[in-house]
Amino acid sequence: SKAPVRVAVTGAAGQIGYALLFRIASGEMLGKDQPVILQLLEIPDEKAQNALKGVIMELEDCAFPLLAGIEAHSNPEEAFKDTDYALLVGARPRGPGMERADLLAANAAIFTVQGKALNKVASRNVKVLVVGNPANTNAYIAMKSAPDLPAKNFTAMLRLDHNRAASQIAAKTGTAVGDIRKLTVWGNHSPTMYADYRFATINGASVKDTINDQVWNADTFLPTVGKRGAAIIAARGLSSAASAANAAIDHMRDWALGSNGEWVTMGVPSNGEYGIPAGIVFGFPVTTENGEYKIVEGLEIDAFSQERINITLAELQGEADGVKHLL
Ligand code: NAI
Repeated sequence: SKAPVRVAVTGAAGQIGYALLFRIASGEMLGKDQPVILQLLEIPDEKAQNALKGVIMELEDCAFPLLAGIEAHSNPEEAFKDTDYALLVGARPRGPGMERADLLAANAAIFTVQGKALNKVASRNVKVLVVGNPANTNAYIAMKSAPDLPAKNFTAMLRLDHNRAASQIAAKTGTAVGDIRKLTVWGNHSPTMYADYRFATINGASVKDTINDQVWNADTFLPTVGKRGAAIIAARGLSSAASAANAAIDHMRDWALGSNGEWVTMGVPSNGEYGIPAGIVFGFPVTTENGEYKIVEGLEIDAFSQERINITLAELQGEADGVKHLL
């Protein structure tokens, strides 16, 4: 049987952590033949560490055959030791009266420390997924703080936006979500993201031609996907957690095990594709194979799409400028 791999998860006692860890341990992320060691990080705060102990007790009580070890940590340099996968979920949420600059600074503090710790102790092939918001910019900060690791190993989660878009399209067209191909979401994980179904197909038929309604695209579809997180908070009184954990599983599974030629959306550092400045962590269509992702190139960007891409890029460049002095 396979040797265990190490999976670090931060914010492990939080809402997303609670929806995520059990699925990683059951083999849904890395395969039903891959044993895992969970290296869990929470803040040193006693309440958080106690909550983490409780989650670990429950993980033990699941008696998962693939769970080869569980560790609880409060120090990133211990949590990330030799880790093969790192899911950075814990982040500083926006508090009452907190300005955007304060939010960026608080998260820059977390993600510089964690990037440096990964740089120092993680596997040289570590695959990093940043879930904690602002996810793209936090991934950018961690990447910039880890100069000895390949930049391409730092990614941000756009998969929830991708899955939300797929679900809206399936509902609109009365088709099964699993039959949708070649969908993507460009840009920032924020309401400015641009979910793009121009290339998408359902059982081979063009989604754009099937829907044939640009007003619905601009005035209903994009705002619905963009504001879905806020709609869930309004309805549930809590932010999306199970669907976020599910998207994290999808992202890591496809990256590790391959997408079988299908497009998926990942936030990855640009190499200049589609005019996105190098280094900016941007949602792109990718295919994955043998543990590597590849940005789908050569897609035509029409005027409407270019305008949307420019908006979400400007937001990301603003965030990068906002943390520049902290890196
Ligand atoms: P939560 O507040 O329930 O849990 C966050 C946990 O992280 C807490 O237990 C906290 O103690 C811990 N934490 C904070 N700073 C930490 C640090 N420096 N090191 C280790 N642990 C730390 O929040 P929830 O609902 O689990 O969400 C987590 C993050 O994911 C939030 O930033 C949220 O905005 C983001 N998110 C991102 C999505 C995406 O699509 N990219 C979707 C949904 C949520």
